[in-house]
Amino acid sequence: MSNTDRRRVVILGSTGSIGRQAIEVIKADPDGLELIGVAAGRDSTSLQEQVDALGVRHHGLGSDAAVHLATLEQADVVLNAVVGAAGLRASVAALEAGKTLALANKESLVAGGEACRAAAARGNGLIVPVDSEHAALAQCLSGRDKKTVGRIVLTASGGPFRTRADLDDVTPEDALAHPTWSMGPKITIDSATLMNKGLEVIEAHHLFHFEYDQIGILVHPQSVVHGIVEFVDSSSLLQAAPTDMRIPIRAALGSPQAFVSSGKPVSLSSVGHLEFEEVDQERFPSVALAYGAGRRGKSFPAVLNAANEQAVEAFLSRSIRFKDIPVVTESVLASHDPIEVTELDAVLQVDSWARQKAAQAIEQRRDAATVGGAAR
Ligand SMILES: NC(=O)c1ccc[n+]([C@@H]2O[C@H](COP(=O)([O-])OP(=O)(O)OC[C@H]3O[C@@H](n4cnc5c(N)ncnc54)[C@H](OP(=O)(O)O)[C@@H]3O)[C@@H](O)[C@H]2O)c1
Repeated sequence: MSNTDRRRVVILGSTGSIGRQAIEVIKADPDGLELIGVAAGRDSTSLQEQVDALGVRHHGLGSDAAVHLATLEQADVVLNAVVGAAGLRASVAALEAGKTLALANKESLVAGGEACRAAAARGNGLIVPVDSEHAALAQCLSGRDKKTVGRIVLTASGGPFRTRADLDDVTPEDALAHPTWSMGPKITIDSATLMNKGLEVIEAHHLFHFEYDQIGILVHPQSVVHGIVEFVDSSSLLQAAPTDMRIPIRAALGSPQAFVSSGKPVSLSSVGHLEFEEVDQERFPSVALAYGAGRRGKSFPAVLNAANEQAVEAFLSRSIRFKDIPVVTESVLASHDPIEVTELDAVLQVDSWARQKAAQAIEQRRDAATVGGAAR
């Protein structure tokens, strides 16, 4: 392959967990991939190190820089690995500019699913999932007639509290100790509450166009099977892969061609046994909150996402308890009058309303904890 055939990649969120793994993938395939741009939030030191080490021409900090890089004329693929709804504007911009959007930033689709779809239709952009579950489902669904599919199922590791009965005194350190994946702090907390799986259900709805009744979740502690497609003829396809995000990143950056890699398939004989169980919705109320917001549609998913982001941040800064995260999110959802959010501006307006409401709810939880003598 000549240099001109290389796929030119921009990474938004290059200093984070997914961003750094994507850089490894690109470095391992100099003939197929070329890194031409990187953006981060605030970490100027790490960004500059990447720019110097890799000789990247285009770079910048903050959401405006991410939007600018997402539309670089030279870019073929934009990997959005920004955390949170902060990544939405860049997703919309990339799709509108006709790019292939390798999407790790699930919050883009949760908050702005319709806005992203409209932008893709306007600009001829394409979304390719990076989340391992959605990459697995895309693989199982490839070449299949949608009418033959009964249900798609996302697997969940169950997080660090799958077997812990009492979640009253969970600390940020407890919740950040994920059993199978090493990830950034926000998604790690979302994995502990299982909100991550709820967000992924909404993401799957937008990516694959199934109704919520056709999207299921199974807890699978080994994290070997990432997605399951159940067909109407009673057969199922399961996708298995090692717990290594470089696999779906590589697939997304190479899409539609698969890249050759020296990786080995998961050794099922070494794993020995695979377990699957239903989600305990009582202990993990975030799952039902996400399904509810998804089913009600309109601006509810954007509210769910923004309130959850605020609550996770408040938990990490020890302002509220672990169990307050879904309480805050639910209270913001309950006070919301939905609007249509087919355009970016409307999503951003709802997002900012929900953050203000969440801040109030967080204050109330903090005050309640202080009155009860339990503030930390
Ligand atoms: N980690 C995983 O294994 C995994 C798996 C599946 C999906 N995802 C999804 O991928 C996304 C990233 O996750 P992560 O674990 O990689 O998060 P992370 O380690 O916290 O990294 C987040 C990245 O986003 C950048 N960022 C934050 N705000 C920004 C802004 N306003 N403009 C530009 N860049 C900004 C950060 O820059 P600074 O360093 O400067 O703050 C950092 O580079 C999330 O949506 C997550 O749900 C992650």
